[in-house]
Parts: sequence; C-alpha cells; structure tokens
Amino acid sequence: MKSPDLSVQLAPRNKRGLLLSSPVMTASGTFGYGTEYAEIVDIQKLGAIICKGTTLKSRPGNPQPRLWETASGVLNSIGMENIGIDALIREKAPLWAEWKVPVIVNILGETIEDYARLAKRLDRVAGVSGIEVNISCPNISAGGMEFGANPKSAAEVTAAVRAKTTLPVIVKLSPNVTDIAEIACAVAEAGADDVSLINTLKGMSIDIKTRKPVLGNVCGGLSGPAIKPIALYMVYQVAQKVKIPIIGCGGIATANDALEFIMAGASAIQVGTANFTNPCTPLDIIDGIGHFMKKEGIRRISELIGAAI
Ligand SMILES: Cc1cc2nc3c(=O)[nH]c(=O)nc-3n(C[C@H](O)[C@H](O)[C@H](O)COP(=O)(O)O)c2cc1C
Repeated sequence: MKSPDLSVQLAPRNKRGLLLSSPVMTASGTFGYGTEYAEIVDIQKLGAIICKGTTLKSRPGNPQPRLWETASGVLNSIGMENIGIDALIREKAPLWAEWKVPVIVNILGETIEDYARLAKRLDRVAGVSGIEVNISCPNISAGGMEFGANPKSAAEVTAAVRAKTTLPVIVKLSPNVTDIAEIACAVAEAGADDVSLINTLKGMSIDIKTRKPVLGNVCGGLSGPAIKPIALYMVYQVAQKVKIPIIGCGGIATANDALEFIMAGASAIQVGTANFTNPCTPLDIIDGIGHFMKKEGIRRISELIGAAI
C-alpha cells in the first residue's frame, strides 16, 4: 500500500487556503514561536505551528508562580506574556517566511477594535499563514474569554477580524461556557474558516501551609490529560452543529488520543501541554497516525474524520 495521505485543507472556502501536510499542530503558548524548538525538533515536519498569543503591545504577564502541576494536568496563569505584534512582524515573521511549515498567529485583544487592528496588521505579512483568534483566555482581566462567553460577542469579534483580513481565520473557543456548540455556530456564521477547541478550563490550587492560593493570579487554566474527555465530548458536540472544519485540542499526548478527536469530528488537532514533557510528541503522533492508517488500510485521513458520529 502507498503511504497514507495525511494532508488536510483547513480553509476550503478561503481563496488563500490552509493546506497542512498532516493534521497535527502545536497549540498556542506551548511551543513559543517555533524558533526555540528548531534545533531539537524537525519542525518542518509539523502540520502547522501556532505561535504564542500576541497582543498589540508587549505584555509582561501575571505575577509568579504561573505554572502548577496538578493530578494529570497543569494549571497556568501566564497572562499573555508576549513580545507584541510589532516585534513579531519584525523579528519572527521573516524567519517563518523561509519555512515550509505554516505558522498561524494567535491573537488576543482587550477590545473588538484591538482584534480588528491585529488582523489588519497581519493580513499581508509574509510568513503568516493564518490567524487564530483567542476569545478564550481565562488568565487576563480584560478581553479574551469575556468575548468567547456568549454567541453575540464571539460573532462580533469574528466579523471584525474577517473584515480586516483575507487570511484563514480560526476562532478558538472556551470550554467555560454553557453551550459551546451555540458559540461555534455563531462564529461560523460570522465568517470563521475553522473553530479550534478547547482552551483551558478555569481552576485553582491552595497551599495548605500558607493557606493561600498557589498561583499568583489565584485562578489559572487547567490543561493536560485531565481535560481530554471534556474536550473530546465538546468536539463531538460541535461537529454535529457546524460545517466548517474543527481543530481539536485538550490533553492530546498520543496518536490514539489524536485519532479519538479525529473520529469525534476534528479535521486537525493541536498538542499543548504534552510538549512540555516531550517536544517531539507532535512528530510521534504524526508517525502513529500514519501507522494506524496503514494497518487499517485507510488511504486518506478524511476517511476517519467524524467516523464516530
Ligand atoms: C503554559 C500555557 C500557555 C498557553 N498560552 C496560550 C495562548 O497564548 N493562547 C491560547 O489561545 N492558548 C494558550 N494556551 C492553551 C493551549 O493552547 C491549549 O488550548 C490548552 O492548553 C489545552 O490543550 P492541552 O491540554 O494539550 O495543553 C496555553 C496553555 C498553556 C499550558
């Protein structure tokens, strides 16, 4: 049998398209700007890299401690520490423009206008293949999750971004809502090319000796294996409501995990927390999916998308 075809087109209705050699991407905030890993991981083999969340101005992030290990998971309250859009365009994009692997920029605003300005700035930047709109960050005081919490504001942000760029637009959804499928429908209607889900779940830890919250910011976002069944079910629910491609994320650490998400309806997946224990995880997952397809006699990954629905 010929090598199975793992490629996926994530923006079929967008003229610029977003063709990935495999459905495996790195999740925002867990793989830097890609550059940091270039010496230890063959990054050009990845489906795509999603860079750290980027704001109009650089941000120092929240007070330490900002990362805390929990049972089968991690709490983080980084608070969007990043270099800002100007430095990203000046210093990172020219490097990305030389790469084969597509890089998608994750953006975050405090206002709808911020999101629109970020999208406009990125529109014609060489090296940027798409935008992931973060309306789901639980770790900042203004913006982020606030917009992802209801269908109306989620659609407004999406429409504002859509109006300013022809790049593929992925909208990243929050699990901290009552009905994620309703929000997915609203952003699809407002012009998103894809939805990605999930961002982290709100949580906390307490140090019983100091009798105080462990994280400097009190609350953080929970990620890692602990959230996988929740994320998987949300993908399954959203897949039954929207027609645009879904990118699954949450606790994925093995090819089997990734295949579960694909069978639940995801056209692609993101690996986040697992990169902290082994940054080669996404490449191992690509190999593992290929082996599974060969063993099962499956020629195209599309044959598996939504197989469990
Ligand atoms: C340390 C850390 C930083 C993160 N930063 C971002 C970010 O800047 N933008 C974003 O949209 N998501 C961010 N996330 C969320 C991840 O991209 C992902 O949605 C989440 O961690 C769930 O996937 P996982 O369980 O595979 O980590 C961050 C997660 C972690 C653990």
